[in-house]
Amino acid sequence: MTTQTERRAAPRRCLAIVLAAGEGKRMRSALPKVLHKVAGRSMLAHVLDSVARAGADAVAVVVGPGRDDVAAEARAAAPEARILVQAERLGTAHAVLAARDALAEGFDDVLVLFADTPLTRPETFAHLREKLSDGAGIAVLGFEPEDPTGYGRLLTDNDGALLAIREHKDASPAELAVGACNAGLMALDGKRALDWLARIGNSNAQKEYYLPDAVVMARGEGAACALVMAPAQEVLGVNDRAQLAVAEAEIQRRLRLAAMLGGATLVAPETVFFSFDTVLGSDVVVEPHVVFGPGVTVGDGSVIHSFSHLEGATLAKNVAIGPYARLRPGANLADKVRIGNFVEIKKADIGEGAKVNHLTYIGDASIGPRANIGAGVITCNYDGFLKYRTRIGADAFIGSNSALVAPVEIGDGAFVGSGSVVTENVEADALAVARGRQAVLPGWAAAFRKKMAALKAAK
Ligand code: UD1
Ligand code: MG
Repeated sequence: MTTQTERRAAPRRCLAIVLAAGEGKRMRSALPKVLHKVAGRSMLAHVLDSVARAGADAVAVVVGPGRDDVAAEARAAAPEARILVQAERLGTAHAVLAARDALAEGFDDVLVLFADTPLTRPETFAHLREKLSDGAGIAVLGFEPEDPTGYGRLLTDNDGALLAIREHKDASPAELAVGACNAGLMALDGKRALDWLARIGNSNAQKEYYLPDAVVMARGEGAACALVMAPAQEVLGVNDRAQLAVAEAEIQRRLRLAAMLGGATLVAPETVFFSFDTVLGSDVVVEPHVVFGPGVTVGDGSVIHSFSHLEGATLAKNVAIGPYARLRPGANLADKVRIGNFVEIKKADIGEGAKVNHLTYIGDASIGPRANIGAGVITCNYDGFLKYRTRIGADAFIGSNSALVAPVEIGDGAFVGSGSVVTENVEADALAVARGRQAVLPGWAAAFRKKMAALKAAK
């Protein structure tokens, strides 16, 4: 008897080729264009992430010559990816052919993506691939930009079937009037792609090998060319920093929406900035003007008050921070921790229910449960050469304006008097006072005033 699984067709194997060999001159930057970030992650890494989520079985990234930085980012984002160098920049079809060996392996689907087009959703790649499994030779992603200047135009017949893609610089006036444009991304039948690409020539206005000409090659063999239309904001290509800001705005819009639909309250969503990987639990409240750098997780019921900046921080449940809190990488806050205004926390574990409420720096430290850190306390963790740790026990109380000179340990339940400069360990339940003893001289001020007034009168 044939089971359900046996009857199902074998899954189609997919090769994704990401083009990242462009120069990106219009960014006017020392950094290669595809390494510029949106929502705290490079455009290249965004694209590689979408590719992975779209279920690609193999990934090839095409980089420019000498671009070790781009190659390193590709390796970090997709360790299995093959990195290929396009020695000369002769056009998009030429760039795809840098992955000739991978193409020759005969994958079922080949996806071609641009590393400077970071907002395309994995579902859209899946739509393109569906067209191939339905029998198309090529599936092109199209869109209707507000201004089609510079884009390749989609030329269709009366039935809407795609005939060719005409680059702006090669188009006739009638062709320039076409509003539907090539987004640049496409899916090709992996068994035939190499043959089509290898036959593309460069007799055009730019003397470049154009990937979109694969449509003409495919049609010449009678293969169907399908069109998938995408919303313009999904296929925005970033060429300069103004477009980078547009891409950032779009990705922030998506992240805010996802946060709210996931059960977080954003009082003024347009003022909250997320990273691609921010994780918010349910019933988290984020007040206006908060910035999340990469690597932040916030547990259920926590409140982030206004003007706080978080990066690489983990907040357990029912934590409250800010207003004006700064959590740096390695800040690890247990349940019900309270971090107040103008407090900076770095590489520190703060125990359950502990309070660090005002004007404090805690770095390279651990603080026990329920400890209370007074206003203006500083862990002096650095001597200009090395960093040292401070350990504060459970239920300890550190008086205001104390400096804890690390390495130093304050035992469970110990007290430190205000204004102390603590250089030696304090045992559990002890009181440490490390400051000048107070002297009070009765009547001194009155006598001083009398003497000075007399001196002044005699002049
Ligand atoms: C391309 C399309 C155009 C489409 C537009 C959408 C071609 C010929 N044209 O034009 O139809 O409307 O995108 O934005 O494909 N690259 C390389 N090596 C090269 C050339 C390009 O790696 O030799 C990479 C670039 O880094 C970039 C991508 O390919 O990521 C697209 O190149 P670009 O020069 O920006 O093409 P467009 O002129 O924008
Ligand atoms: Mg472009």
